Amino acid sequence: MNDFKISEATKEHLPYVDVILKTIKDAAKVRGTGIAKRSPDYLIAKINEGKAIIALKGDEFAGFCYLESWGGKQFVANSGLIVVEKFRGQGLAKAIKRKAFELSRELFPNSKIFGLTTGLAVMKINSDLGYRPVTFSELTDDDEFWKGCRSCVNYDILVRTNRNHCLCTGMLYTPSKEEDEKGGSEEKRDSTKELDVVNRWVKFKQFVLLRRGNIQKKNLKQKRSILSTLFSI
Ligand SMILES: CC(C)(COP(=O)(O)OP(=O)(O)OC[C@H]1O[C@@H](n2cnc3c(N)ncnc32)[C@H](O)[C@@H]1OP(=O)(O)O)[C@@H](O)C(=O)NCCC(=O)NCCS
Repeated sequence: MNDFKISEATKEHLPYVDVILKTIKDAAKVRGTGIAKRSPDYLIAKINEGKAIIALKGDEFAGFCYLESWGGKQFVANSGLIVVEKFRGQGLAKAIKRKAFELSRELFPNSKIFGLTTGLAVMKINSDLGYRPVTFSELTDDDEFWKGCRSCVNYDILVRTNRNHCLCTGMLYTPSKEEDEKGGSEEKRDSTKELDVVNRWVKFKQFVLLRRGNIQKKNLKQKRSILSTLFSI
């Protein structure tokens, strides 16, 4: 981990914007998910506002994450987490996320911090930082945030469940609650057990939501075929 320099991104990092966007895009293709639209201008603004974390190995781009505030700054999301493939599995995402988390606490001390993810790695990282899995109703209701999901291949699931469920798991860090815990709560969290339960829930959710979607698509096909037979369309 000492090989990497993880810092708040500044103007000197603007030349990395293209490689950051390309790495995010390529990773989304591999994962088969959609991507929340991030234009170069959007990332440039994040960097200029001091709301992004970048990891470099020497001069080489290694990882990135940025902060977004939603619902009148009631909520902050640490988004766009990416680690270059060859640098994965060394704890780099964890270190970037921790830095982004610390920056979020510094810039938005009263905000809840949340994230949406399908990835077990990110769930682990979030859980270690004190996030808990929650229902979507506990996350921001800011429409602008949810509009970011439009470019995801699973967006139809979110729509047909009235924004109640999707393949992503929502995780939330609530500042006061966590500080109370640090103050000596007797109830110690067993994050491994918690993640195991969440993981099983995610698999169940994927099974149900994807299956229902397929059945609906199949039904639609069948209905179309009956209609075309009846009306020769
Ligand atoms: C997800 C991603 C950021 C992880 O980066 P990374 O640097 O390899 O992660 P880390 O090495 O910091 O691992 C963090 C934890 O997750 C675990 N982990 C890493 N990859 C994992 C995987 N594919 N499945 C399950 N657990 C995994 C690690 O073992 C580690 O757990 P530990 O602390 O208990 O040892 C990276 O794979 C990536 O960029 N993927 C593509 C983009 C993406 O999915 N972004 C997240 C969007 S929500």
